[in-house]
Amino acid sequence: MTKASPRQAPKHADISHFASRNNELVIGGKTISQIDKLIGSTPFYAYDKDLIASKVADLKTALPAKIQLHYAIKANPYPSLVHFMVDHVNGFDVASKKEMLLALQSGMPANEISFAGPGKTQDDIQSAIVAGITLHTESATEINRAIAIGENLAIKPNIAIRVNPAFELKASGMKMAGGSKPFGIDEELLPQLLNELPYDKINFQGFHIFAGSQNLKAEAIIEMHQKTFALAQQLVTLTPVKIAYINIGGGLGIPYFPGEQRLELGEISSNLTELLQQYQEALADIDIIMELGRYLVGEAGVYVSKIVDKKVSRDTTYLVCDGGLHHHLSNSGNFGQVIRKNYPVSIGNKLNNTSEQTTELVNIVGPLCTPLDIIADRMHLPTSDIGDYVVVYQSGAYGASASPKDFLSQPELTEILL
Ligand SMILES: Cc1ncc(COP(=O)(O)O)c(C=O)c1O
Repeated sequence: MTKASPRQAPKHADISHFASRNNELVIGGKTISQIDKLIGSTPFYAYDKDLIASKVADLKTALPAKIQLHYAIKANPYPSLVHFMVDHVNGFDVASKKEMLLALQSGMPANEISFAGPGKTQDDIQSAIVAGITLHTESATEINRAIAIGENLAIKPNIAIRVNPAFELKASGMKMAGGSKPFGIDEELLPQLLNELPYDKINFQGFHIFAGSQNLKAEAIIEMHQKTFALAQQLVTLTPVKIAYINIGGGLGIPYFPGEQRLELGEISSNLTELLQQYQEALADIDIIMELGRYLVGEAGVYVSKIVDKKVSRDTTYLVCDGGLHHHLSNSGNFGQVIRKNYPVSIGNKLNNTSEQTTELVNIVGPLCTPLDIIADRMHLPTSDIGDYVVVYQSGAYGASASPKDFLSQPELTEILL
């Protein structure tokens, strides 16, 4: 028995970009039961190369040709995926020394790798300088540290300044700028700092203006771009040397929850074309970089677990799976959500059983002994049984690497790029 009438849930985010065969979800040409046999166990994350490639290609087609794309490895640092991205984007953004080493191993040239993030240690900075990548410095202390280490190594550090602008990215899932922030140097401190920088001791590269992430409102992104270009022009004027690039940040979101729609790129792109025209003179010969993580890879990945028990408690049917919160914290609702909402979920080997007679209302949970371990809450899904696959979509970013995999010492997780 299931609960009588749930609230009328709006349709979940569009997942029609995935193919199916024999009622099963297909990733990279293989059905999920084949992938299970290939790997030998569930749970796993599977990422579809072709979907990533076409997402990047579509974005490049939509954006003005001058805009270069950088992939933010933090979104998904699975090594095979990072290696795959080398041929699809112009550069990588890394957020730690380990990500930097991965980026270098992938074959991305050092001069196309930037390292942002607060709290870089002496060791981080030394490695970055030896590697020849660009430090996106987050404070005056970090700049001074890099200069001192560079002098010691007799290597001029490549330095760009991460700016904390006075504006914010409105309606954003994660605001990273505006007001008081641990990220970047406040824009109002820059006139003096840019005046005093010892340019002879550094290779000054430019500015990184990253205002926020996970935004689905074109008008908010357009406004951010307008403010970013205006600020970039001012900073270029204040800088006595020629700079290589302005990184205008990212922020393009993907739909996760019921009612959310994919971003329309048309107006964002025409606005960028206008801005490039308007600031053509000030930004001549300066590369313009957009830095994205989830937009490039988030929709191409799924998290798959298997049902190991099906039980009814009072009036609620539970599907208990072999995977959960420890591998997919954000789907469980414990990675920054205030009110938990369901990601798109399917029974991956019963995709077409969606008529009223073949569906049931279920709660899907993981194996952890905590009520936080939720995969889906009160969803109508094809009637399923032990051994069927539960698929969580929109899981290609901030999945495996953003989850507490050691919590309760559950079996290892596998990832695969197909
Ligand atoms: C500096 C920086 N770059 C890139 C990203 C990637 O954001 P997203 O995956 O939403 O594109 C983030 C996310 O927090 C970030 O802080």
